[in-house]
Amino acid sequence: MHQPVLLKEVLKYLDPKPNENFIDCTFGFGGHSLAVLERNKPKGKVLGIELDKKELLQSKLQERLTLVQGNFSDLKEIVEKNNFHSVSGILFDLGMSLWQIEKSERGFTFQKNEPLDMRFGDTRLRAEEIINNWPKEKLENIFREYGGERYAQRIAKNICQKRQRQKIRTTGELVKIIQEAVPRQYLYARIHFATRVFQALRIAVNDELNNLKKALPQALNILEPKGRIVVVSFHSLEDKIVKNFFRDKAKENVLKILTKKPIRPNLEEIKFNPRSRSAGLRAAAKS
Ligand SMILES: C[S@@+](CC[C@H](N)C(=O)[O-])C[C@H]1O[C@@H](n2cnc3c(N)ncnc32)[C@H](O)[C@@H]1O
Repeated sequence: MHQPVLLKEVLKYLDPKPNENFIDCTFGFGGHSLAVLERNKPKGKVLGIELDKKELLQSKLQERLTLVQGNFSDLKEIVEKNNFHSVSGILFDLGMSLWQIEKSERGFTFQKNEPLDMRFGDTRLRAEEIINNWPKEKLENIFREYGGERYAQRIAKNICQKRQRQKIRTTGELVKIIQEAVPRQYLYARIHFATRVFQALRIAVNDELNNLKKALPQALNILEPKGRIVVVSFHSLEDKIVKNFFRDKAKENVLKILTKKPIRPNLEEIKFNPRSRSAGLRAAAKS
């Protein structure tokens, strides 16, 4: 179901060797973890962390794999609780999985008519709460900042007008409101007119940027010397967080940057797995 993105490149930089231990902070369907477990035999372990309990339940358990439902922003605590030591590499493959888009029925995509939820885990804030209760300026801000949406103001205004009459509950209703708010030519652009608003909502619901900011320093602390951090991101704001963190720590001589620029999937991978097209991988090794 889920095709692991940039798998060859992830393995190149994590570089798993027999008996080494790794942490997969975004386990999902375990595509990357299973490939690592093939390479760190016979005694190497993987600690898989995943926010989405439903997603975890689909995975086959195996002896050298420990699975934890949790948020990677609590990485240190999870590692201590599970007594997981001597870590040679830590992976973040950010964003959402195909299963979440296609099967979770949580409104991650504008292509389906589903409740406005968008939570990865059991957190409190749902997209419906944001759409119906956040002030206009705050909506406009997230659409612009997290989505890069140029019609943020018009969309936020239309949402506020519509919700006065009736609560907005579904992705279908939201798509219609966006459609009414943007200029006609925008409806025929290469990128679907609702893409940016949906992305912004998902980032806000799951506090994605803050989670990453909190997790990176913890990952660096947990790693053994020469251990690698590999991050696959799908959004320029995520990539910027990783880039700046690596740059600052490299200046302090705490780590060495292994990728000058983000590594992108080749055309073959993009053709096979179109969702990979916005992926970029950055890697660094602890000094
Ligand atoms: C792109 S998928 C990972 C796919 C996985 N690498 C694979 O090959 O199957 C991203 C996953 O990260 C999870 N996730 C997102 N934010 C998280 C967080 N803060 N803590 C733990 N898991 C998170 C999502 O629920 C999703 O399942």
